[in-house]
Amino acid sequence: MSGIVYLVGAGPGDPGLLTLRGRDCIERADAVVYDALVDKRLLEHMRPGAEAVYAGKREGHHSRPQEEINAILVSRGRIGQVVTRLKGGDPFMFGRGGEEAAALAAAGVAFEVVPGVSAGLAVPAYAGIPLTHRECGPDVTFVTGHEGRDGARVRWDLLAGASTVVFFMGLGHLPRIAARLVAAGRDAATPVAVISHGTTDRQETVTGTLATIVEAVARRSIGPPGLVVVGDVVRMRESIRWFAELGPPGGGA
Ligand SMILES: C[S@@+](CC[C@H](N)C(=O)[O-])C[C@H]1O[C@@H](n2cnc3c(N)ncnc32)[C@H](O)[C@@H]1O
Repeated sequence: MSGIVYLVGAGPGDPGLLTLRGRDCIERADAVVYDALVDKRLLEHMRPGAEAVYAGKREGHHSRPQEEINAILVSRGRIGQVVTRLKGGDPFMFGRGGEEAAALAAAGVAFEVVPGVSAGLAVPAYAGIPLTHRECGPDVTFVTGHEGRDGARVRWDLLAGASTVVFFMGLGHLPRIAARLVAAGRDAATPVAVISHGTTDRQETVTGTLATIVEAVARRSIGPPGLVVVGDVVRMRESIRWFAELGPPGGGA
Protein backbone atom coordinates (compact mmCIF):
# COMPACT_ATOMS: atom_id res chain seq x y z
CA MET A 1 0.00 0.00 0.00
CA SER A 2 1.53 3.33 -0.98
CA GLY A 3 1.14 6.47 1.05
CA ILE A 4 1.17 10.08 0.05
CA VAL A 5 2.54 13.26 1.60
CA TYR A 6 0.72 16.56 1.11
CA LEU A 7 2.97 19.59 1.54
CA VAL A 8 0.38 22.10 2.65
CA GLY A 9 0.64 25.84 3.24
CA ALA A 10 -1.21 26.65 6.47
CA GLY A 11 -1.31 30.39 5.84
CA PRO A 12 0.29 33.15 7.89
CA GLY A 13 -1.53 32.91 11.24
CA ASP A 14 -5.22 33.68 10.87
CA PRO A 15 -6.71 30.17 10.65
CA GLY A 16 -9.35 31.49 8.25
CA LEU A 17 -6.65 31.85 5.61
CA LEU A 18 -6.18 28.08 5.21
CA THR A 19 -7.28 27.00 1.73
CA LEU A 20 -10.17 24.56 1.19
CA ARG A 21 -7.73 22.06 -0.31
CA GLY A 22 -5.48 22.45 2.73
CA ARG A 23 -8.36 21.71 5.09
CA ASP A 24 -9.28 18.67 3.02
CA CYS A 25 -5.71 17.35 3.39
CA ILE A 26 -5.81 17.80 7.18
CA GLU A 27 -9.15 15.99 7.37
CA ARG A 28 -7.97 12.95 5.43
CA ALA A 29 -4.51 12.59 7.05
CA ASP A 30 -3.32 9.70 9.21
CA ALA A 31 -0.68 12.06 10.55
CA VAL A 32 -0.22 15.82 10.46
CA VAL A 33 3.38 17.02 10.80
CA TYR A 34 3.22 20.70 11.75
CA ASP A 35 5.53 23.65 12.39
CA ALA A 36 5.75 26.16 15.24
CA LEU A 37 4.12 29.01 13.32
CA VAL A 38 1.05 26.93 12.45
CA ASP A 39 -2.07 27.93 14.43
CA LYS A 40 -3.03 24.93 16.56
CA ARG A 41 -6.72 25.50 15.80
CA LEU A 42 -6.05 24.05 12.35
CA LEU A 43 -5.41 20.68 14.02
CA GLU A 44 -9.08 20.62 15.03
CA HIS A 45 -9.80 19.58 11.42
CA MET A 46 -7.98 16.27 12.01
CA ARG A 47 -10.07 13.13 12.14
CA PRO A 48 -10.29 11.25 15.46
CA GLY A 49 -7.32 8.94 15.93
CA ALA A 50 -5.03 10.83 13.57
CA GLU A 51 -1.60 11.67 14.95
CA ALA A 52 -0.24 15.21 15.37
CA VAL A 53 3.56 15.36 15.08
CA TYR A 54 5.31 18.58 16.10
CA ALA A 55 8.25 19.45 13.88
CA GLY A 56 8.65 22.98 15.12
CA LYS A 57 11.51 25.20 14.31
CA ARG A 58 11.79 28.82 15.29
CA GLU A 59 14.24 31.37 14.03
CA GLY A 60 17.52 30.69 15.81
CA HIS A 61 16.17 27.62 17.61
CA HIS A 62 16.22 24.65 15.33
CA SER A 63 14.40 22.09 17.40
CA ARG A 64 14.71 19.46 14.68
CA PRO A 65 17.21 19.26 11.83
CA GLN A 66 15.59 19.44 8.38
CA GLU A 67 17.00 15.99 7.54
CA GLU A 68 15.08 14.52 10.45
CA ILE A 69 11.81 16.06 9.21
CA ASN A 70 12.51 14.76 5.71
CA ALA A 71 13.11 11.29 7.18
CA ILE A 72 9.82 11.40 9.12
CA LEU A 73 7.90 12.25 5.94
CA VAL A 74 9.67 9.60 3.86
CA SER A 75 9.30 6.80 6.42
CA ARG A 76 5.63 7.52 7.06
CA GLY A 77 4.91 7.74 3.33
CA ARG A 78 6.72 4.45 2.77
CA ILE A 79 4.58 2.55 5.27
CA GLY A 80 1.46 3.73 3.45
CA GLN A 81 0.32 6.64 5.58
CA VAL A 82 -1.49 9.69 4.31
CA VAL A 83 0.65 12.48 5.75
CA THR A 84 -0.13 16.18 5.75
CA ARG A 85 2.95 18.31 6.24
CA LEU A 86 1.55 21.60 7.49
CA LYS A 87 3.89 24.55 7.02
CA GLY A 88 3.46 28.22 7.84
CA GLY A 89 2.47 30.48 4.96
CA ASP A 90 3.32 28.89 1.63
CA PRO A 91 5.51 25.76 1.63
CA PHE A 92 7.72 27.00 -1.20
CA MET A 93 8.27 30.54 0.09
CA PHE A 94 11.33 30.45 2.38
CA GLY A 95 9.78 27.33 3.88
CA ARG A 96 12.20 24.59 2.85
CA GLY A 97 9.25 22.87 1.18
CA GLY A 98 11.46 22.41 -1.87
CA GLU A 99 13.87 20.34 0.20
CA GLU A 100 11.06 18.18 1.55
CA ALA A 101 9.64 17.65 -1.95
CA ALA A 102 13.09 16.73 -3.26
CA ALA A 103 13.60 14.22 -0.45
CA LEU A 104 10.23 12.61 -1.17
CA ALA A 105 10.92 12.52 -4.90
CA ALA A 106 14.33 10.93 -4.32
CA ALA A 107 12.76 8.30 -2.05
CA GLY A 108 10.00 7.53 -4.55
CA VAL A 109 7.24 8.62 -2.15
CA ALA A 110 4.19 10.23 -3.80
CA PHE A 111 3.55 13.83 -2.82
CA GLU A 112 1.47 16.86 -3.76
CA VAL A 113 2.02 20.52 -3.05
CA VAL A 114 -0.86 22.64 -1.76
CA PRO A 115 0.14 26.31 -1.92
CA GLY A 116 -0.75 28.52 1.00
CA VAL A 117 -1.24 32.21 1.64
CA SER A 118 2.28 33.44 2.31
CA ALA A 119 2.99 35.86 5.15
CA GLY A 120 4.73 37.92 2.48
CA LEU A 121 1.36 38.62 0.90
CA ALA A 122 -1.06 38.47 3.81
CA VAL A 123 0.82 40.28 6.57
CA PRO A 124 1.29 43.56 4.67
CA ALA A 125 -2.36 43.31 3.55
CA TYR A 126 -3.54 43.03 7.18
CA ALA A 127 -1.36 46.02 8.02
CA GLY A 128 -3.06 48.08 5.30
CA ILE A 129 -0.04 48.03 2.97
CA PRO A 130 -0.64 47.06 -0.67
CA LEU A 131 2.55 45.50 -2.02
CA THR A 132 2.08 47.28 -5.31
CA HIS A 133 0.51 50.56 -6.25
CA ARG A 134 0.72 52.21 -9.64
CA GLU A 135 2.31 55.31 -8.15
CA CYS A 136 4.93 53.38 -6.19
CA GLY A 137 6.90 51.55 -8.86
CA PRO A 138 6.71 48.39 -10.92
CA ASP A 139 8.22 45.64 -8.79
CA VAL A 140 8.05 43.66 -5.52
CA THR A 141 10.98 41.67 -4.17
CA PHE A 142 10.91 39.00 -1.44
CA VAL A 143 14.23 38.58 0.35
CA THR A 144 15.58 36.55 3.24
CA GLY A 145 16.91 38.62 6.13
CA HIS A 146 19.31 35.77 6.90
CA GLU A 147 22.13 36.87 4.66
CA GLY A 148 25.02 34.49 4.96
CA ARG A 149 23.05 31.46 6.05
CA ASP A 150 23.65 28.62 3.61
CA GLY A 151 25.68 31.00 1.47
CA ALA A 152 22.75 33.34 0.72
CA ARG A 153 24.04 36.63 -0.70
CA VAL A 154 21.72 39.60 -0.90
CA ARG A 155 22.16 41.99 -3.85
CA TRP A 156 21.89 45.23 -1.89
CA ASP A 157 22.83 47.19 -5.01
CA LEU A 158 19.69 45.91 -6.76
CA LEU A 159 17.46 46.35 -3.71
CA ALA A 160 18.56 49.98 -3.39
CA GLY A 161 16.76 50.67 -6.67
CA ALA A 162 13.79 48.33 -6.15
CA SER A 163 10.23 49.54 -5.49
CA THR A 164 8.82 47.39 -2.66
CA VAL A 165 11.13 45.04 -0.75
CA VAL A 166 9.76 42.49 1.73
CA PHE A 167 12.20 40.86 4.15
CA PHE A 168 11.34 37.54 5.76
CA MET A 169 13.23 36.68 8.96
CA GLY A 170 14.42 40.27 9.03
CA LEU A 171 13.34 41.44 12.48
CA GLY A 172 16.54 40.38 14.23
CA HIS A 173 18.62 41.81 11.41
CA LEU A 174 16.87 45.16 11.10
CA PRO A 175 19.89 47.38 11.91
CA ARG A 176 21.98 45.62 9.25
CA ILE A 177 19.17 45.70 6.67
CA ALA A 178 18.58 49.44 7.13
CA ALA A 179 22.30 50.24 7.10
CA ARG A 180 23.00 48.10 4.03
CA LEU A 181 20.17 49.62 2.03
CA VAL A 182 21.27 53.17 2.81
CA ALA A 183 24.92 52.31 2.12
CA ALA A 184 23.84 50.91 -1.26
CA GLY A 185 22.16 54.21 -2.14
CA ARG A 186 18.58 53.88 -0.92
CA ASP A 187 17.17 57.16 0.41
CA ALA A 188 17.27 57.15 4.23
CA ALA A 189 13.80 58.75 4.17
CA THR A 190 12.28 55.63 2.50
CA PRO A 191 9.27 54.44 4.53
CA VAL A 192 9.56 51.13 6.41
CA ALA A 193 7.01 49.02 8.28
CA VAL A 194 7.78 46.18 10.66
CA ILE A 195 4.80 43.92 11.29
CA SER A 196 4.91 41.40 14.11
CA HIS A 197 2.51 38.43 14.48
CA GLY A 198 0.67 39.57 11.37
CA THR A 199 -2.94 38.45 10.72
CA THR A 200 -3.38 37.40 14.38
CA ASP A 201 -4.84 39.10 17.43
CA ARG A 202 -1.24 39.88 18.40
CA GLN A 203 -0.53 41.84 15.23
CA GLU A 204 1.51 44.96 15.84
CA THR A 205 2.94 47.35 13.26
CA VAL A 206 5.71 49.89 13.71
CA THR A 207 6.43 52.36 10.96
CA GLY A 208 9.28 54.76 10.33
CA THR A 209 11.97 55.35 7.74
CA LEU A 210 15.25 53.61 7.04
CA ALA A 211 16.80 56.25 9.30
CA THR A 212 14.36 55.86 12.22
CA ILE A 213 12.93 52.35 12.13
CA VAL A 214 15.56 50.64 14.31
CA GLU A 215 14.95 53.00 17.21
CA ALA A 216 11.17 52.91 16.70
CA VAL A 217 11.12 49.11 16.87
CA ALA A 218 13.39 49.10 19.93
CA ARG A 219 10.97 51.44 21.72
CA ARG A 220 8.08 49.06 21.14
CA SER A 221 9.99 45.82 21.83
CA ILE A 222 8.01 43.71 19.37
CA GLY A 223 9.06 40.12 18.79
CA PRO A 224 9.18 37.48 16.04
CA PRO A 225 7.72 36.47 13.71
CA GLY A 226 8.11 39.77 11.97
CA LEU A 227 8.04 40.98 8.40
CA VAL A 228 9.88 44.09 7.18
CA VAL A 229 8.39 46.07 4.28
CA VAL A 230 10.46 48.80 2.64
CA GLY A 231 9.07 51.21 0.06
CA ASP A 232 6.69 54.04 -0.67
CA VAL A 233 3.68 51.67 -0.46
CA VAL A 234 4.08 51.78 3.34
CA ARG A 235 2.60 55.30 3.30
CA MET A 236 -0.70 53.89 2.04
CA ARG A 237 -1.24 52.42 5.50
CA GLU A 238 -2.15 55.85 6.82
CA SER A 239 -5.31 55.86 4.75
CA ILE A 240 -6.24 52.19 4.30
CA ARG A 241 -5.32 50.37 7.50
CA TRP A 242 -8.38 48.31 8.36
CA PHE A 243 -7.37 45.55 10.80
CA ALA A 244 -7.61 46.25 14.54
CA GLU A 245 -4.22 45.62 16.10
CA LEU A 246 -2.14 46.16 19.22
CA GLY A 247 -0.23 49.37 19.83
CA PRO A 248 -0.90 53.07 19.49
CA PRO A 249 -3.28 54.33 16.79
CA GLY A 250 -1.35 54.94 13.59
CA GLY A 251 1.40 52.51 14.59
CA GLY A 252 3.93 55.15 13.75
CA ALA A 253 7.36 55.85 15.02
C1 LIG B 1 10.85 30.42 7.67
S1 LIG B 1 9.93 31.78 7.05
C2 LIG B 1 8.51 30.94 6.45
C3 LIG B 1 7.66 31.78 5.55
C4 LIG B 1 6.40 31.06 5.09
N1 LIG B 1 6.73 29.90 4.30
C5 LIG B 1 5.46 31.97 4.32
O1 LIG B 1 5.24 31.79 3.13
O2 LIG B 1 4.92 32.89 4.96
C6 LIG B 1 9.35 32.52 8.54
C7 LIG B 1 9.30 34.02 8.42
O3 LIG B 1 8.08 34.41 7.80
C8 LIG B 1 7.64 35.62 8.35
N2 LIG B 1 6.35 35.40 9.00
C9 LIG B 1 5.66 34.26 9.06
N3 LIG B 1 4.48 34.42 9.68
C10 LIG B 1 4.42 35.73 10.03
C11 LIG B 1 3.47 36.53 10.69
N4 LIG B 1 2.31 36.01 11.13
N5 LIG B 1 3.74 37.84 10.88
C12 LIG B 1 4.89 38.37 10.44
N6 LIG B 1 5.84 37.67 9.80
C13 LIG B 1 5.60 36.36 9.59
C14 LIG B 1 8.68 36.07 9.36
O4 LIG B 1 9.60 36.90 8.69
C15 LIG B 1 9.29 34.75 9.74
O5 LIG B 1 10.62 34.94 10.25
